[in-house]
Amino acid sequence: MSLTAEPLSEFLGAEIKGLDLSRPIDAAARSELLELFWRHKVVVIRGQDVDPDGFIRYAEAFGPIEPFFISAYNLPSHPQIYVLSNVRKDGKPIGRDGAGTHWHSDSTFTEKPSSVTLLHGVEVPARGGDTLFADTADAYDRLDPATKALIEGRRAIHRYQRKEFVFSGDRAVDEAERSEIERLKALRLAEEAAAMPSPTAQRSNREPDRLHPLVRTHPVTGRKALYLNDEMTVGIEGMPDAEAVPLLHRLCEVATAPDRVLRFKWRQGDVVAWDNAATVHTATFTPPDEPRVMHRLTVEGTVPV
Ligand code: SIN
Repeated sequence: MSLTAEPLSEFLGAEIKGLDLSRPIDAAARSELLELFWRHKVVVIRGQDVDPDGFIRYAEAFGPIEPFFISAYNLPSHPQIYVLSNVRKDGKPIGRDGAGTHWHSDSTFTEKPSSVTLLHGVEVPARGGDTLFADTADAYDRLDPATKALIEGRRAIHRYQRKEFVFSGDRAVDEAERSEIERLKALRLAEEAAAMPSPTAQRSNREPDRLHPLVRTHPVTGRKALYLNDEMTVGIEGMPDAEAVPLLHRLCEVATAPDRVLRFKWRQGDVVAWDNAATVHTATFTPPDEPRVMHRLTVEGTVPV
């Protein structure tokens, strides 16, 4: 074994050592990487001096990269890369700001949600901008037998909703940050209303509801996991909302129990990959005076079963 994995918490995530992403990964290292990835669900390689081509090459170790969304925020030289950022140049955002600020896994409102997401910390803030992760397979295992029986074979309804600047998953937000978040949110919404809707918003507004199993069997490990999130799961097929909505809420609470959450603090050049079929994640608030620039890639997924 040439790679090593140091756990990031007692329940989720590992830092992988032994890879230099500025060079191609050989077949043996790739199979070790994947074995560690499916086991730890969130893997981090610290401090990589990697350019967009190297980042894309690393992401391809996990599978084919998907053309995610038509977006106003793709990196012009490498349109597969989606830029998340709070930085503005000449009054215009260089990336999407305030996204992913609620517990979710990626693109569950599509037929084949992304299997793996990768972020590269190109410019990381000294304060804020952490990413939180929780393990939804562990959450399923912790359910009582009656709840497992209640949700077995059920399908949840996923609907795209633009909930930005929410920060619902971060219990560490204080009063001053809360009012700063509200101020920024109002400002960004007003800017957006004054401009043409972005191609991303136009496309996502046309996405139909999708039904996915509430208990998902992992396509690689075969392990069962809860498959739901705070943002896009709006109901359960065949169950009245009065029953389904509180149940979904309770399941999300189990999945994101504060004592099971990994808070990942970024360092410059970190590259993180996460398993969307076995985890949920949420961004936390970045103060506007702290630049944050992240490059994001997603890997094709399969229809959840
Ligand atoms: C995401 O939800 O894809 C991004 C998370 C982050 O910016 O920390």
